[in-house]
Amino acid sequence: MVYKNILTQIANSVCTVTVNRPDKLNALNKETIAEIGQAVKAAEAESSVRVIIITGSGTKSFVAGADISEFASYTDQQGKELARHGQQVFNSIEKCTKPVIAAVNGFALGGGCELAMACHIRYASDNAKFGQPEVKLGLTPGYAGTQRLPRLIGMGRAIELLITGDMIDAQEAFRIGLVNKVTTQEELMNACLQLAGKIIQQAPVAIAEVLKCVGDYQSKTTDGFETEIQSFGYCITTEDFKEGTAAFLEKRKPVFKGK
Ligand code: COA
Repeated sequence: MVYKNILTQIANSVCTVTVNRPDKLNALNKETIAEIGQAVKAAEAESSVRVIIITGSGTKSFVAGADISEFASYTDQQGKELARHGQQVFNSIEKCTKPVIAAVNGFALGGGCELAMACHIRYASDNAKFGQPEVKLGLTPGYAGTQRLPRLIGMGRAIELLITGDMIDAQEAFRIGLVNKVTTQEELMNACLQLAGKIIQQAPVAIAEVLKCVGDYQSKTTDGFETEIQSFGYCITTEDFKEGTAAFLEKRKPVFKGK
């Protein structure tokens, strides 16, 4: 698949999706959001891929938000459609059956912070900056920032960031649990690849089931406790479970097949 605004690369079971609009600090226009959705879907379907990493091109910005020039003259209807589409794509990232890591290599503002939050895990470089500056433009977030930020950092801190539009640096994002790790810019990709390497050693079906269970914890319609019971029972039927337990008992490393 040829994309206009993103780059994709598959190596060692990791698909890296790079938002590539450096002259706009990787701001997300509609086309870019659609392409990210397509790339994640393709990586999910590609059996050689085990982990997906999303990052931004260059060293200054992960994603500096939705493309302000695109929606500046929108009607309310167009605004709703833009938000709905963005939420659909970001929800599909959160629901991806393969782990998605955000490698936040610079500004993660507005839609950029929302994209990072839709990923399962966030690592950041020490120059990264996070924020939801929409109120400065007379807007609310549109890609679920009001929903995911409170879940990740708690209601009080989230509301403060959402209604001041303040930016926080990577260390503060780490302190409040918005990111899992902070590295130098040079080390960021290596750290994400190391994390991916650890994940890749585990059983693929079990990983997909864990992601499903955790996703249902946040669901208002599905009981995540019940999902976990079902997933536990299902995993017991897999070849990977037999291999994992046999390897433990035989004191050797398991070789998982994802079945
Ligand atoms: N949408 C469209 N274009 C954007 C953009 C966005 N969200 N963020 C940055 N750009 C563009 C700028 O317009 C500029 O384009 P130009 O060179 O054609 O003028 C280019 O990217 C570089 O940005 P610039 O503002 O000159 O860089 P900076 O280092 O001075 O500031 C930011 C960086 C991130 C602080 C600043 O660009 C910014 O505040 N961006 C908007 C963030 C935002 O409000 N996001 C939420 C949108 S809902």
